[in-house]
Amino acid sequence: MTQTAVALSTDARTAIADALNQSVAETAVATMLAQNFHWNVTGMAFGPLHDLFQKIYEDHFVAQDDLAERVKSLDAHAEGTLAGMLARSKVKEHDGHASDQEMIKVMQTAQETLAATLAGCGALAAEHGDTLTEDLCIARGQTHEKFAWFLRSHLA
Ligand SMILES: [Fe+2]
Repeated sequence: MTQTAVALSTDARTAIADALNQSVAETAVATMLAQNFHWNVTGMAFGPLHDLFQKIYEDHFVAQDDLAERVKSLDAHAEGTLAGMLARSKVKEHDGHASDQEMIKVMQTAQETLAATLAGCGALAAEHGDTLTEDLCIARGQTHEKFAWFLRSHLA
């Protein structure tokens, strides 16, 4: 049965908020990763890659706010520290010393990791009938898979 936030049990809200905080953390780490690569990318494809990494961090910056505010709509605490996000995130930081091709591959993997995290979060929300969180997660997962495709296409 479809449930809105107020109708969810405390346990359901806690579980969904935890999964959402995982998504927030990975989105935030990927935001920094994309900005890092936007700054440090080199090579003949500098222009388009500089632009693509900017598109990614601009998208992710908005998304981390949307995801965190969904946590708040569920009346839970939104993870708001970099240390906490890094501890949770399966997307890892990078020192930015890499070839353009390595950066593309690292970012592709980050996007695939995020797509999997968002798909999992959406499935958990669906189990509890939380259609509105599920919808947000599905939309975010689709965007990460689109970016994964953009990146993958550079390496074909
Ligand atoms: Fe810039």
